[in-house]
Amino acid sequence: MVTTDGTLLSFICLIYSFLIVSLLKKKAKLRPDIKHPPSPPAVPFIGHLHHLSPVIHKSFHRLAQQFGPLIRLRIGASSCVVASSAVVAKEIMKTHESLFTSRPKFGTPNYDIYDGYSFITVEYGHYWRFMKKLCMTQLLSSLQLDRFIHVRREETRKLLKSLVKSSKEGVAVDLGAELMRMLNNVICRMVMRARCSDSNNEAEECRKFGHGGFRTCWEIKKIVKLMKRFDKLVEEVMEEHEKKMKDGVRDAKDMMDVLLDIHHDQNSETKGIKNFIFEMFIAGTETSSTALQWAIAELINNPIVLRKLREEIKSSVGTSRIVQESDVPNLPYLQAIVKETLRLHTPAPLILRRCSEDCKINGFDVPKDTRVLINAYSVMRDPLHWKEPDMFTPERFQRDAEENIGQHQMDMKGLHLHYIPFGSGKRGCPGASLALTAIHGTLATLAQCFDFQVDNEGIDRTIDMEEGTRFTAAMKKPLICYPILRFRPL
Ligand code: HEM
Repeated sequence: MVTTDGTLLSFICLIYSFLIVSLLKKKAKLRPDIKHPPSPPAVPFIGHLHHLSPVIHKSFHRLAQQFGPLIRLRIGASSCVVASSAVVAKEIMKTHESLFTSRPKFGTPNYDIYDGYSFITVEYGHYWRFMKKLCMTQLLSSLQLDRFIHVRREETRKLLKSLVKSSKEGVAVDLGAELMRMLNNVICRMVMRARCSDSNNEAEECRKFGHGGFRTCWEIKKIVKLMKRFDKLVEEVMEEHEKKMKDGVRDAKDMMDVLLDIHHDQNSETKGIKNFIFEMFIAGTETSSTALQWAIAELINNPIVLRKLREEIKSSVGTSRIVQESDVPNLPYLQAIVKETLRLHTPAPLILRRCSEDCKINGFDVPKDTRVLINAYSVMRDPLHWKEPDMFTPERFQRDAEENIGQHQMDMKGLHLHYIPFGSGKRGCPGASLALTAIHGTLATLAQCFDFQVDNEGIDRTIDMEEGTRFTAAMKKPLICYPILRFRPL
């Protein structure tokens, strides 16, 4: 019996082992080996954290040069894939665009007092499509930009006035802070006609929200406090708008009016309105003012470029009036300077996407739900497309135009996948036109009206071009300089 039992047991074990082995084989057949993109050496628990410096896109750039244009990184328990060349960016953003139209969840959702109403991070679906259409046809359309031309003109005048005053007094200005304030006022007034008087400065409050949102993005308690203050402020402005609407004394429709009209038509929640407005500040102000600061810093450090720009303005606009937004189409060198600035100092260097299905990129497997970061900083330095990629050479864009490369003049909206300051495709930046309008107009005016000296003791100094550690690739040190009036603007 013992023998029979033993034989039976051995038989059962044999059958069981056979089943497990065949099941594993079957499983292996069903899930062939995944060919992951290469990774640098990892350390237990922290993964690749030790490879990263505070300027993350530069760390990714360095790693890509060692391990290739598509790498896989692990930080603690989470992992991501980083794309760093134009060819790989094209595969993700164009060839397989439909698989990469969502964004990964990042940070913690605990701060999200608007409960999943984010336009920037929402899944590619009904709500996103609705908001995107609204952005392109109304909120950020060219008609809406035209309606608010007077706002940009007034805010530019305010900036000029302040700089003329500093110039007369011979004092230094924090030009970065001035530009940030001005662009914030522009966006604030376009979004919700907020008052910008010194005593009741809602625009200034919002600037702090946008700025604070970036600085405190990982400190949950602070960000929740900030969001609650923002919520209260927007609530007040919303009530004012509603009142004006009822009283029939509404002038040019701002974004809040458009959103409120839809809210009334559809009886939807106001959370969507508040969140959209919050995201306009997060996405629009810091990025645009960062770009402007880099552009001015490059002009200060490259006097030949500045001289050429002034000659262009002089021959196109003359010497009797100030340059205007409507002059920009006739200023190709100005446009080339802005393009080159956005290439070399892209304010949004890391573009975040999520893969919605298993796919192959650059010959490697990228499983469903992988977080994908496209390093625009590396893509726009890809040596296959850019000669001397670290040099500031606006002329390269003029050459493009002349040689008519790829039958298109290099466009800003990511048509050419080696130039993606505003991303590309469906999920590309809807605020690009607003940002470019403001950047071109302000840069031209400042170049026409002022010299900016780094030192007022006659020492020929240049601006320190080191990058800070912020989310938007801002300058490390404040852009402080002495404005010297060269053309009386007011
Ligand atoms: C120089 C200034 C700016 C730069 C460099 C910039 C860059 C970008 C980039 C790279 C993206 C991601 C695109 C992608 O995934 O392909 C983005 C998205 C976005 N940007 Fe901008 N942006 C700027 C200004 C603005 C402005 C002024 C606004 C609005 C007032 C804005 C609103 C947005 C929004 C709402 C998104 C999310 C779009 C979506 O997820 O569908 N941006 N931006």
